Amino acid sequence: ADINLQEIHDFLLSVAHEAGPMITSAHPSTASSGSKKNSVDLVTETDRAVEKLISTKLRNQYPNFEFIGEETYTPSTTLTDTPTFIVDPIDGTTNFVHSYPYVCISLGLAVKRRPMVGIVYNPFTNNFYSAIRGQGAFLNQTQKLPLRPATPLEGLEKALIAVEWGSDRSGNDFKVKEKTFARLCRRKEEGGAMVHSLRSLGSAALNLCGVAAGQLDAYWEAGCWAWDVCAGWVILEEAGGMIVDANPGNWEPRIDERKHLAVRGGEGQREFVEQFWGCVEGTFE
Ligand code: IPD
Repeated sequence: ADINLQEIHDFLLSVAHEAGPMITSAHPSTASSGSKKNSVDLVTETDRAVEKLISTKLRNQYPNFEFIGEETYTPSTTLTDTPTFIVDPIDGTTNFVHSYPYVCISLGLAVKRRPMVGIVYNPFTNNFYSAIRGQGAFLNQTQKLPLRPATPLEGLEKALIAVEWGSDRSGNDFKVKEKTFARLCRRKEEGGAMVHSLRSLGSAALNLCGVAAGQLDAYWEAGCWAWDVCAGWVILEEAGGMIVDANPGNWEPRIDERKHLAVRGGEGQREFVEQFWGCVEGTFE
């Protein structure tokens, strides 16, 4: 049967609206938050309650679709070709716990593993990013993304780049990040790229929306999950942005590969990707 993407978009929008107050009215603290795999991988009661509300609504309305959510994921969960809602009830949980208002609900629909609808809603700022494949990306349904006409990319040395430290603070991948961050920032005389700056804002979905809006030139990360990127992915692509592997070489990564480089729209995108890949120190596993 045909899937009505517009109807799904509108439904996801209403669900996000309904869930928003659960986040803004909560009073999480660093004391009340439990942790998953270590002391910096946080989860709160609100994460679980918001996912419960969202999954109940989505399963009732679309009983034939699959559902993957951060808080109910298990290692045996697999993404198939079936239409699948991919949901992060709170992306930016660490921010949420610290009352730093860079937090969102990320609601995506993937069909044949490809993101087709995306809603990213920050209930603190009331900003809604959304996209339907083939129909453009929007802020608050009226402002088309990017927010200004895309200027040519001027290379790493003029770039503002989002990166994330992630919750894994050991092992190969953490070393790749540490070394690459340093190289991106270091002076050219010392072999660096001397980017304008790096930002580590704490939400993968909002980072993707920032790149889609043209406010960030790129976002590079390893360690994020499909629910962190599914919604933002279609928003970025519909805004003219491009998403490739964080490791050099793969121009067509899948949403469940857990490492990505997102680049904003604009002339010189591929050259920018090549230049960035040239700065990656090591290889993510
Ligand atoms: C995390 C955030 C963080 C990113 C991690 C994500 P969560 O999501 O997006 O910025 O570095 O990879 O897992 O745990 O807050 O939903």
